[in-house]
Amino acid sequence: MKIGVLDSGAGGLTILNVIRKKVPALDLLYFADSAFAPYGEKSPEQIQSRLIKIGEFLEKQGVNAIVVACNTATVVAIDVLRAHTHLPVIGVEPAVKPAFRVSKKRHVAVLATPLTAQSHRLKELIELWRSDSQVQIMSSPTLAFEIDQWPASEVVVDKLVKELCQHMLEAEVDTLVLACTHYPLVKQIFIQYLGENCEIIEPSEGVTAQLYRRLQEAYPYEVQGLAGSEHRGSIELVSTKDIVKAQSLRCWVEDQTAPIDVRSVSL
Ligand code: DGL
Repeated sequence: MKIGVLDSGAGGLTILNVIRKKVPALDLLYFADSAFAPYGEKSPEQIQSRLIKIGEFLEKQGVNAIVVACNTATVVAIDVLRAHTHLPVIGVEPAVKPAFRVSKKRHVAVLATPLTAQSHRLKELIELWRSDSQVQIMSSPTLAFEIDQWPASEVVVDKLVKELCQHMLEAEVDTLVLACTHYPLVKQIFIQYLGENCEIIEPSEGVTAQLYRRLQEAYPYEVQGLAGSEHRGSIELVSTKDIVKAQSLRCWVEDQTAPIDVRSVSL
């Protein structure tokens, strides 16, 4: 079985890595829409039209399900993608529910792209789960973009994360939701500036569990076969920018023993 995992850039690889760890028999096709990144500063309509195109491409590649491994695309465009495909589509929403559950001081920060931060969906999720907690919604217009330039951007990323963490510490936040899939790629930098006492919540495990449930529903026989399989699936990395960008995604793939193919497509 083959799963398509998409994002504007490298962020969705945080989810691909967990899928690979939990279900190594799956073939994984990773789609980075690098020519149109960052998504966080585009209009919802632009992202919707990108997702329709990417969905059609992934269908042609024979995927059995699509993971929208991007908070921004999920909150503004997942319904449009679902209306255009018969495949199961799994999204990633800001993980505010578990954050409110674990926060002891009841002071949570949500860090997202500008589009996610402004979205109606994020506000809805917060109102649903916050109870008496205080919430800081924070956004960075550049952090996801800079992470995509890694390792050349290491110093800039460090500075951006440091500034964001200083605000969170001043606000006495004890739980941080990383509501953009790029941010867990540099989780160690957040830990460095926030200290070990601040919980950092990110959604990769939850999204992988949800993918597995949807696969069991849609393809029960195939999924039974996956469970005991010794087979190790392939990983393919595709970028809409160029082959150099596609190659640069490799450094975030945790399973470096996997056979990895790389290519660029224009879409
Ligand atoms: N990784 C994406 C997210 O989860 C979007 C980053 C961007 O392109 O702005 O929101």
